[in-house]
Amino acid sequence: MSPNYSISNPDSLLSPSLVIFRDHLIHNIDAMIKLAGGPERLRPHCKTHKMAAVTKLMLDRGITKHKAATIAEAEMLAQCGVKDIVISYNMVGPNIARAIDLAKAYPDARITVAADDADCIEQLGAAAIQAGVTIGVVLDVNPGRDRTGVVPGPAAAALYKQIAHTPGLRAEGLHLYDGQQIQADPVERKHAVDQVWERVVAFRELLERNGLPVPRIICGGTPTFPVYAQMTDSVIELSPGTCVFHDKSYGEKYCDLSPFVPAAVVFTRVVSRPTPNRVTLDVGTKAVASDPPMGQRVVLPAIADGVQVLHNEEHLVVETPDSGKWKVGEWTLAIPRHVCPTSALHRAAYVIENGQLIDEWEVTSRDRKLTI
Ligand SMILES: Cc1ncc(COP(=O)(O)O)c(C=O)c1O
Repeated sequence: MSPNYSISNPDSLLSPSLVIFRDHLIHNIDAMIKLAGGPERLRPHCKTHKMAAVTKLMLDRGITKHKAATIAEAEMLAQCGVKDIVISYNMVGPNIARAIDLAKAYPDARITVAADDADCIEQLGAAAIQAGVTIGVVLDVNPGRDRTGVVPGPAAAALYKQIAHTPGLRAEGLHLYDGQQIQADPVERKHAVDQVWERVVAFRELLERNGLPVPRIICGGTPTFPVYAQMTDSVIELSPGTCVFHDKSYGEKYCDLSPFVPAAVVFTRVVSRPTPNRVTLDVGTKAVASDPPMGQRVVLPAIADGVQVLHNEEHLVVETPDSGKWKVGEWTLAIPRHVCPTSALHRAAYVIENGQLIDEWEVTSRDRKLTI
């Protein structure tokens, strides 16, 4: 698909603003379902979009299982009617009570959290028993990223046994996020994933031999999505996030993600022409993610030969021999290299369909607290 980013009524759009091309978004959701082999194998991570409207589009297409990073994201999912929610971190501090409150507020939803720590498991179980609820727990496995999780082996098995035997908790399987698998070559990426997967399968067998069922293994993000999607193990749940909106860094790096197109971009205007070869746009670091290296945070298709020389809170300064073509006040689109933090910078997004502004969607769970 060669995406069309035309906007026929740009004068009504504030800048800088997040713009979602609804056709492209739906294309990505459908591509995700196709790659997965069906909506039932998916558990997309909502941290990329954070939007109730996007969640509902996925529910309409039969994607019933979702993953969240924060209680606010989980609450947004529950408000949308999602009945199977996994929060991917240990519940710590007041988040223990918030997870319990979420389960109480949505009794017909299965609320599951990831855990990798004996104290967290104990505290969560005690709080669940006191509140009269049951919380699902997936053991967070460390697949080599060394960010969270426990390495598969006897100590990890003991933790899973603790989960299974703690009143108030339900052992729901394993969770692994392998963000270290960033090999551009799909064959190399698959090889690396297969090596980890062998250890995870051996670990699952160890648990099952000890009478501990493993009903699900929640796997990966967008780069490893095509790899796990090819596997036929029925317990696998695929949890990409980024490909729903997609972005330039994944788009440029991974040829096997070519079915996905950027669906969320930043609408920006020229706010100054400070020197003869410079164009200054209002897409600063408060409008687009600044975790990619300076000079590479956005792609500007309309200023393809531009060099991004300065990026401040409200300004992106681009040097281009074609600066004379740009007038102050003219608009263009900036495609983020990292879309997930970009969406969190905006309260709402304009929605464009067939070139027309058709709606505005709230970025519902950009706040860390909704009600709970
Ligand atoms: C725990 C977890 N699961 C899934 C994802 C989704 O990964 P991606 O953004 O590559 O789709 C992330 C991304 O940060 C994550 O942290």
